[in-house]
Amino acid sequence: MKLSTLLLPLVAGTTLAAKTCTSNGAQDPSAYKLTISADSPALATLSAIFSAAGKNVSVSDVLDSGNRALTSSKPSIGNGNPVVHLAWNTGDENTAKWLPQGITSSADADPSGKWEDREAWIVSWHQDDDSNARVSVVDRASGKYRHVYLVRPEGDSFASVGVHAGGIVWYQNFLYVVDTSVGVRVFDLGNLWEVEIGEGLGKQADGSYVAENYRYVLPQIHYYRFSSTNGSKFRHSYISLDRSANPPTLLVGEYQTEDSTVDIRFVKYPLSPSTGRLAVNNDGVVTATEAYCTDFLRVQGAFSRNGQFVVSRSNGASKGGDLFVWTPGQAAEAHAGWFPPGNEDLSYNPVRKEWYTVTEHEGLRWIVGYDSY
Ligand SMILES: *[C@@H]1O[C@H](CO)[C@@H](O)[C@H](O)[C@H]1NC(C)=O
Ligand SMILES: *[C@@H]1O[C@H](CO)[C@@H](O)[C@H](O)[C@H]1NC(C)=O
Repeated sequence: MKLSTLLLPLVAGTTLAAKTCTSNGAQDPSAYKLTISADSPALATLSAIFSAAGKNVSVSDVLDSGNRALTSSKPSIGNGNPVVHLAWNTGDENTAKWLPQGITSSADADPSGKWEDREAWIVSWHQDDDSNARVSVVDRASGKYRHVYLVRPEGDSFASVGVHAGGIVWYQNFLYVVDTSVGVRVFDLGNLWEVEIGEGLGKQADGSYVAENYRYVLPQIHYYRFSSTNGSKFRHSYISLDRSANPPTLLVGEYQTEDSTVDIRFVKYPLSPSTGRLAVNNDGVVTATEAYCTDFLRVQGAFSRNGQFVVSRSNGASKGGDLFVWTPGQAAEAHAGWFPPGNEDLSYNPVRKEWYTVTEHEGLRWIVGYDSY
């Protein structure tokens, strides 16, 4: 995260939020809710247009069209001994315009670990001013990847998605993307569309569709808006899937730089494996099933497994990040300097028994994976 993008939300957060955590550990989760919006009617309109034109593509089509490649590269900082260590191409390593934030894999998408028989990662990037977001769809076998632009359908066109995209989870056909103060946005991988290569965004005068020179767009289908029954706010900073829970849950957590006036919480919401959506009631509301107060500062990502939390804390652009392994009710086990600098969102892969993060700073950008913690 860049300081410039952090300052505003943090100032707003400290003035609005009231501290509810008095000690670390489990909290009553029932106050925390997410309400699903209606599915976008414009998505159906556009889906018909792109399908009729033969431009509705699959994840495999995007993987097969990979036009950039990751290379094996060992970070010089970080004592965690990654078993996966991959750098982006030179342009993506060094661009100041886009910063990688969220990571998920085909093992989140499907219990087999594969999607359309392929192993893949999806990584989210936000534009430096948060005005747009994109994802990289990465073929693990070849290292090839392709960027896909995130869009919000509107009428018979589509618009930008201004989101920080601090964390993502690929679950079945859906890509869950956190939106800091709103909640969670959801994108539909059953509707990946090929557009013409050209500048601009959306439908053009000649009827064609473009997306700032990207070849593919991924549309939002709906979103979940956060509310609490007692006025508590929540910073949706990162997200992960817990397949060890029954039903599986989405863990959403908060990034904060201090904990004397604001909360730092992990909250878990149940999924519905039969729909791929969160387990909403008849009113479209899902209530959290677990909530925890913590005192981990600068948390950029976390995942949970069998009641234990694995936590990623960043320490600026030049120092390695810290790892914590925490079972609520016990002291956390700290591994200082585990990650390369700029460690972000986390994602666990139960098939390979590996877990991943992505690092954000220019020239220090890796996908790293570990087989222990
Ligand atoms: C909101 O609800 C949570 C969970 O029940 C509780 O722990 C917290 O103290 C409440 N916050 C406020 C501001 O009342
Ligand atoms: C678009 O393609 C996806 C993946 O190949 C498929 O699941 C979906 O049904 C297609 N949509 C339409 C409207 O044909």
